[in-house]
Formats: sequence, C-alpha cells, structure tokens
Amino acid sequence: MSEPVQLQVNGTAHRFALPRSTPLIYVLRNDLGLNGPKFGCGLGECGACTVLMDGVAARSCVTTLGTAEGRAITTLEGLGTPEAPHPVQAAFIAEQAAQCGYCLNGMIMTTVAFLARTPAPTEDEARAALRYNLCRCGTHVEILRAVMRAAH
Ligand code: FES
Repeated sequence: MSEPVQLQVNGTAHRFALPRSTPLIYVLRNDLGLNGPKFGCGLGECGACTVLMDGVAARSCVTTLGTAEGRAITTLEGLGTPEAPHPVQAAFIAEQAAQCGYCLNGMIMTTVAFLARTPAPTEDEARAALRYNLCRCGTHVEILRAVMRAAH
C-alpha cells in the first residue's frame, strides 16, 4: 500500500489510505460526509460537483485524490452557515435562484471563484463564467441575477 494521501478540506487536514486515483467527490461525500458537491454527470460536464481548489473552481468528479493532495479544498460547507451565509449564498437565497436546487451548490462555488477574480463583472461576463454549469430546471435568469447581486 502506498503512503496515505494528505488532504486539506475546509481548513482541516485529513489523511486517506485510498488509491490516489480515487475521484475527489467520493472522498468528500463518502469519507467526509460533505454533501455540498453533488454527483451529476460524473464526466466533468455539468458542474454540480464543483469545489474550490486553491480558490479556483474545480470539478471534483474528475479530480483525483492525488491531484488534490496539498491543495486547499473548499466545499459549500466551508463557505458559510445557515445563520451566517456567505454573501454569494445570501444572494442566491434573496433571488430565490433554486428550483430543484441540484445544480445550485456548483453554481455558488463557481460564482465564488469567478467574483474573486472579477469583483465587478458585466452580465455578459457572469453569463460566460457560468456557461458550463448546467441547470435542467432553467432558472438561469434567477441565477444570473443572484451573481450580479452578489457582485454589488
Ligand atoms: Fe462533476 Fe457533472 S458531476 S461535472
């Protein structure tokens, strides 16, 4: 068996005796009980599983445990709490951006990364930033409004 893999998640260090090829989303959900990242396509195409890796949006279904080692991983649980939501979470709540809500965690994580590098975006920039996060209910209009609200 190879060396345990060290992972930093939401500010806490963990060690896993798992193959380095294990998808990060399995470790987050199954081993750490963090259900913020949702399993959608499993192919890196829908964005439901998005987490931050050193502040950059990453798809945890196609990121391996080995790739994530030594990076700061943030899941939705690491952003805010129900009592004190992150400003992006608060904006999504204020705009009632969810219908079924399955895509929303990934949308929020992508938005957090986007606004960190583009704090005052145009609507077109926001639309482009979220173009690879899919919502099957079609609440993209409310989601876009939430992104713009969070930016101001
Ligand atoms: Fe990871 Fe769809 S579940 S991108």
